[in-house]
Amino acid sequence: MAKKSIPPAVTGLGVDLAEVARVRRLAADPRFLKRVFTPGELAYAARSKNRFERLAARFAVKEAVIKALDDTSLPLNSIEVENSESGRPAVAVKGRPGLRLLVSISHTAAYASAAVIAFEA
Ligand SMILES: CC(C)(COP(=O)(O)OP(=O)(O)OC[C@H]1O[C@@H](n2cnc3c(N)ncnc32)[C@H](O)[C@@H]1OP(=O)(O)O)[C@@H](O)C(=O)NCCC(=O)NCCS
Repeated sequence: MAKKSIPPAVTGLGVDLAEVARVRRLAADPRFLKRVFTPGELAYAARSKNRFERLAARFAVKEAVIKALDDTSLPLNSIEVENSESGRPAVAVKGRPGLRLLVSISHTAAYASAAVIAFEA
């Protein structure tokens, strides 16, 4: 009989809603951009008509990761969103290669939202 694989246990769930106008205001300060986003995220956002929507979405992902992991000590720029060729996002935390996270993002001109699920390593 084939061995049944055991699905990984979900260890956390986080959601966040970010206001695009607030992120746009904060992004006027280059120190905020450096403290929060990675160069790859800034480059991806810059390719959009409304880069602040994408920045707000990534801000929401970072807050959602912190909620999913219950770890407020994580530097925001250690959490990185990357998009596949099809646009599907993935998120990783620097220095935590064993961490398994799933993410989904949605944004409009006013708000960006993200949901993150964490699995046991
Ligand atoms: C991919 C799709 C689902 C995104 O939905 P949307 O309502 O346009 O936009 P949202 O703001 O909700 O979502 C955007 C985010 O979806 C995510 N996304 C994009 N492609 C994705 C994919 N293939 N799989 C999972 N997530 C994806 C990205 O994170 C993106 O944000 P980002 O570029 O800042 O990372 C949508 O564009 C699509 O292709 N729908 C297919 C059906 C369709 O064509 N409907 C229109 C009929 S009129």
